[in-house]
Amino acid sequence: MSPHALRTEIHCHLLPGVDDGARDLDDSLEMAALATADGTATIVVTPHVRRDFVTDVSIVTEGFEELCEAVERAGIEVELHRGGELGHDLVGRLGQSELEAIAVGPPGRRWLLVEAPFEGLDRVFSAATDELRSRGFGIVIAHPERARGLLAGEAGGLSRELETGSLLQVNHWSLTGGHGAEAEHAALELLDRGLIAALASDAHPGWRRPTLSLGAAAAVAAGADARTAAALVSERPARMLRKGVASRTLAPLG
Ligand SMILES: [Fe+2]
Repeated sequence: MSPHALRTEIHCHLLPGVDDGARDLDDSLEMAALATADGTATIVVTPHVRRDFVTDVSIVTEGFEELCEAVERAGIEVELHRGGELGHDLVGRLGQSELEAIAVGPPGRRWLLVEAPFEGLDRVFSAATDELRSRGFGIVIAHPERARGLLAGEAGGLSRELETGSLLQVNHWSLTGGHGAEAEHAALELLDRGLIAALASDAHPGWRRPTLSLGAAAAVAAGADARTAAALVSERPARMLRKGVASRTLAPLG
């Protein structure tokens, strides 16, 4: 077991059979065991909740209970939290209780992991996150570095999100080029500017492993000091679970 046994994973496709993550329970248990062997103590289970995967959130709530029971039966010591990776295109179709079912954090500071569209953080995305904020949720943006033109300053997408208190979760694979040159450049820039709230694996079996130790190492290799790099996969995401994420609403974009 790694000495950094308090690593916290906030983006992981551990729920079996609902998206392009774990295909079945065997996959889930293998991923959970790998994560804990790597020193991860807590995982937020975040299946895709978007038009081409899960649209019925009850699938997530039921599946999550079964997953927790299976993980316990297997003797894997990991704390699981129910969450979801919300596609902005589905926001208007989900009721408050459905959003609540995939939100994370304490009452009054609940937050949602919202997937950054590859096309960029445009006005449609801002309108969706504005709606979520108005419905009482903080926002954590999943892998913004993979959104096209993130740093180009067009449409004000990133600056608007930061202004409203949204936090950024970067995939650590991006720091080492795993998502291409533009995502790597953006991830390194966000790290350099101190804008990354948490690194996560966004694990999918056979594709991206749930090994946060690699994330801390990648941050160090990219120039972060060791303490900051460790915090990005431990204290900071743990605090997001414990303390939640605040948000504030702005006037709608004209
Ligand atoms: Fe994901």
